[in-house]
Amino acid sequence: MRNRLFRISIVAFPIFCVGVFLYMTYFNAAYDHPGKYVYKTRCAQCHGDNGEGTQSLVPPLADADMLKQHLDSLPAWLIRGMNTHIIVNGKLYEQTMYPIYMSEVEMANLLNYLAADMVHVNKYYKADSMLIIMKEYGQTGL
Ligand code: HEC
Repeated sequence: MRNRLFRISIVAFPIFCVGVFLYMTYFNAAYDHPGKYVYKTRCAQCHGDNGEGTQSLVPPLADADMLKQHLDSLPAWLIRGMNTHIIVNGKLYEQTMYPIYMSEVEMANLLNYLAADMVHVNKYYKADSMLIIMKEYGQTGL
């Protein structure tokens, strides 16, 4: 009996390990940057999976001149929301983005992801500096 159990576990254990390995590889491939997870869950429904925007309603983020020039302002835009006429890559947008709250760590991850993957600027944001901005805008961090 013990012998049989031993033999079963000799086969089952490597299969289990391969399963865990495949799962982790897939998970990493899907969210290779922690900020990508924030983007996919908090922004992509409006701005598109790849930041392409939604027709004439939601502006793009990928290679968007506005975001590229003012990436530092993003925490303020998200905390306050945005409800004004803006011109992104030469096109007018005039819808509302309601305020979006997140922790300072998520905010830093998000900005680092956007900097690297969407607007291609060489910038790095830390959570403590995000917290300072968030406090300035009345959000104490979550
Ligand atoms: C419910 C839909 C919605 C969600 C969710 C959303 N946005 Fe927006 N966003 C908009 C709209 C609409 C505008 C245009 C606002 C205006 O015209 O004043 C906008 C504008 C912007 C702008 C300025 C314009 C540009 O393209 O540079 C940035 C940057 C931005 N959003 C980033 C984000 C990020 C980052 C997230 C996720 C944390 C996010 N948005 C989530 C709808 C959304």
